[in-house]
Amino acid sequence: MIVTTKELFKAAYGKYAIGAYNINNLEQCMGLFRGNIQSQAPFIVQLSKGARSYTDKLMLEGIIRSADQVFPEAIFAVHLDHGDEATCMDCINSGFYSSVMIDASGEEFEKNIAITKRVVDAAHAKGIVVEAELGQLGGVEEHVSVSESDAKLTDPDQAKEFVERTGVDSLACAIGTSHGAFKFSGTQGLHFDVLAEIQKRLPGFPLVMHGSSSVPQDEVARINAAGGKIIGAKGVDDNQFRKAATLGVTKINIDTDGRLVWCRVHREHFISHPENFDLRPPGKVFMSEYANFIAAKNEKLGSAGQLPALREMLAK
Ligand code: G3H
Ligand code: 13P
Ligand code: ZN
Repeated sequence: MIVTTKELFKAAYGKYAIGAYNINNLEQCMGLFRGNIQSQAPFIVQLSKGARSYTDKLMLEGIIRSADQVFPEAIFAVHLDHGDEATCMDCINSGFYSSVMIDASGEEFEKNIAITKRVVDAAHAKGIVVEAELGQLGGVEEHVSVSESDAKLTDPDQAKEFVERTGVDSLACAIGTSHGAFKFSGTQGLHFDVLAEIQKRLPGFPLVMHGSSSVPQDEVARINAAGGKIIGAKGVDDNQFRKAATLGVTKINIDTDGRLVWCRVHREHFISHPENFDLRPPGKVFMSEYANFIAAKNEKLGSAGQLPALREMLAK
């Protein structure tokens, strides 16, 4: 069942974080739904601009609609990840999305507010929830690359002003994470102090943590043992998710870790079966491994086992 992101936030706030997982294709979608049912967790499926154009946005949306039928037990929201204004409007008008993220974090404060406000007005008129971003994460997104020295942590006072002036429903805060597989090249870590200051100024308001893949070292080692060359990769310690949740982080974004699962499964399959050219054997292994990965991640987020309570809350 597709629900609004706001309902998921209401159930989770302060207790656990909802996993927001990016998907691009059928196998990821299948593994994602299986893993969430396996662990009895509500979740957010998120689609980036790149994912929407990888095949065709309608194709991807169609896969999710079908998953909703194949897994009637699932409770989830559909979210646009890192949208520009035009993509947000497209998703708002499509009628399919529970929520959109407008990412104008690369703009200066007043311009970020103006763009975000336009998206909020259009989205709220259709009952759609909006996430915005303030501060800048390091790392590489689809069309933006931010060096570590340019990454800016979110200013707590600005966060309060931004939320009040835009009317946005949740806020992605830069607290030291970055996108991709190469986080924390120096001695950096998560800035829980910044998070606590933001929560103090915005009590009860859902915060979002991007760049939250943990880049498991055993996964990287297996990829490299099977012919990969991923050197110096490092991620977020997922044992810190629960602490972040108590500080108001209600949505945690994970994409890179799923790509690592895909890479490991396919590298290992083809290195041990050099004669194979069939896509189905590694695809089957991937769907199962991705489901196991999602289920394990939901344990770290605290969202595992929350489905029955959420269903009860929604029925009231
Ligand atoms: O934050 C970015 C997400 O990992 C999506 O990545 O734009 O390559 O689909 P993508
Ligand atoms: P990772 O690159 O750490 O998986 O972050 C994903 C993300 O923030 C998507 O918006
Ligand atoms: Zn992100």
